[in-house]
Amino acid sequence: KVDSELVDLLASLRGEKPLPLYDGAAPSINPVDIYRSVITEELAKIAELDASLIYPALEWTSTLDKGDLILAVPRLRVKGSPVEKAASWAAAFSLSSLIKPPVATGTFLRFDYNPDILPKIIVIEFSSPNIAKQFHAGHLRSTIIGGFPSNLYEGAGWKTVRMNYLGDWGRQYGLLAVSWKKYGDQKAFHTDPIAHLFDVYVKISADFKPEEDGFKAAGKRGEDTAILESRGLLGEAKAYFKRMEDGDEEALALWRKFRGISVEKEIMEMAERILLEKGIAEQDNGAVLIDFKKHGAKKLDVALVRNRNGTSNYLLRDIGAAIQRHHTYNMDKMIYVVMSEQEAHLQRLFKILDLMGGEYAALARKIQHVTFGKVMGMSTRRGTVKFLDDILIDVGEAMHNVMRRNENKYRQVDDPEKVADILGISAVMVQDMSGKRINNYLFNIGRMTSFEGDMGPYLQYAHARLCSIQRKVALTHGELLQADFSLLNEPHAIGLVRLLAQYPDVMGHTFKTLEPTTILTYLFRLTHQLSSSYDVLRVVGAPEGVATTIARAALYEAARKTIHCGMILRGLSPVERM
Ligand code: ARG
Repeated sequence: KVDSELVDLLASLRGEKPLPLYDGAAPSINPVDIYRSVITEELAKIAELDASLIYPALEWTSTLDKGDLILAVPRLRVKGSPVEKAASWAAAFSLSSLIKPPVATGTFLRFDYNPDILPKIIVIEFSSPNIAKQFHAGHLRSTIIGGFPSNLYEGAGWKTVRMNYLGDWGRQYGLLAVSWKKYGDQKAFHTDPIAHLFDVYVKISADFKPEEDGFKAAGKRGEDTAILESRGLLGEAKAYFKRMEDGDEEALALWRKFRGISVEKEIMEMAERILLEKGIAEQDNGAVLIDFKKHGAKKLDVALVRNRNGTSNYLLRDIGAAIQRHHTYNMDKMIYVVMSEQEAHLQRLFKILDLMGGEYAALARKIQHVTFGKVMGMSTRRGTVKFLDDILIDVGEAMHNVMRRNENKYRQVDDPEKVADILGISAVMVQDMSGKRINNYLFNIGRMTSFEGDMGPYLQYAHARLCSIQRKVALTHGELLQADFSLLNEPHAIGLVRLLAQYPDVMGHTFKTLEPTTILTYLFRLTHQLSSSYDVLRVVGAPEGVATTIARAALYEAARKTIHCGMILRGLSPVERM
């Protein structure tokens, strides 16, 4: 089972058709069997021979200069000249990315592994907070959820580019720049740039509030706010942003100071040109818009790609960014981990690329949106949104208090503050992954740090407890390998083994759904099975004898490793003591 899964996984990762698994092939033990299978399948077709003849005839070479695998054609007992057969088969061989073209040398066919198999590339955009704005709950979720596909794909052999999109900057950035002129302070910026930029931004937001309220009121009265918006602070901000987009050096210098960047300006202009030329977008009073209803996407309605004052907007910048990534990475797949509120925005982006046709349409087919719901109830401390560092300090403290309750254990923890921090982060993350991505959930520090229910602390505890068992039995890896598994015949032990056997399926399924909760649910089932087993399957001083102790310790170690792998994959750091 493991072998055929491995072969299928490998084939699907490489975008190739699945491989047959021949008699005697055991790729999980011997990866070369994968190459043997590729060669066998192709040769069986070309030579019209039974695969069972070819497979065992593919031998390793006596010296590396003879290649990696070699086939003596006479061994196959075919009619005709083996020299001619070798030559014609080599010529007819259609290639897999795994091997180089085979070479016929006399009566031999020689095969060489391809040493530079190109790994597939995936770009995963997640987190993506806005410059000079709060890192809010939506970004936190994107960060937590986005780490997961990154680890999954990386673990499956993909070259993984994790990226943070700092592209949503037009209006905020203009305001920030205006504010910098009023409130900016070199020294404060130097000491703590983020905090200072945030202060500067908070100040301008306060100044801007009455103005914004004015727009809203005018909008409600049904008035056109465009004129209002071109005045006041927002007018200044927009003018500044326009100068920046026009390439004004002074405006750009400040931008670089804050972000250090070159904008996707040219690409955006190129994309806009294509959109206009193909009649996808249209001019409208100085603005450029796309009426999706004309392109068979009624739901997407109408959207601007360029504002009336000539500045680019969020959508156009995303088009530019997507194409720029395509140029930079030429990736095979791209995932956007972005909250569900932006579903329409992203659907528009993907539709536009699709409409652009050719390589852009091909790019659109590579993109997937991994969406997620809201976090409710993140109360305020300073400003309107709870800061991530405040949250992490709070959960860390809560966990530290819990740890201190057991003095004995607490004394044995090496760096209790660090462990408390890790537990706190796990608490936040596990709560986030408890439900399906699309569900909203209530941010609740009390609940997430509790040991009741399937929360982060309990998962960490389950892992730490298994570590403690291994410390107590103190068996070496070699000793555990000697375990006699026939001694594991109690229902609890069998239950654990059956549960452990589900892990590969759980993983395979998760690879498709990218639902973190699937793994988490599985890990909790495992921890429940474990906690009901400890009294029955005693290890230290098991009355059944030493051999039973070893077998059970090996079983618990397998469970520990599974929990460890599942946690790491989910971005959690398992602790050994707590
Ligand atoms: N920075 C955006 C926000 O906070 C999210 C970015 C999403 N990614 C994208 N390529 N549009 O709303």
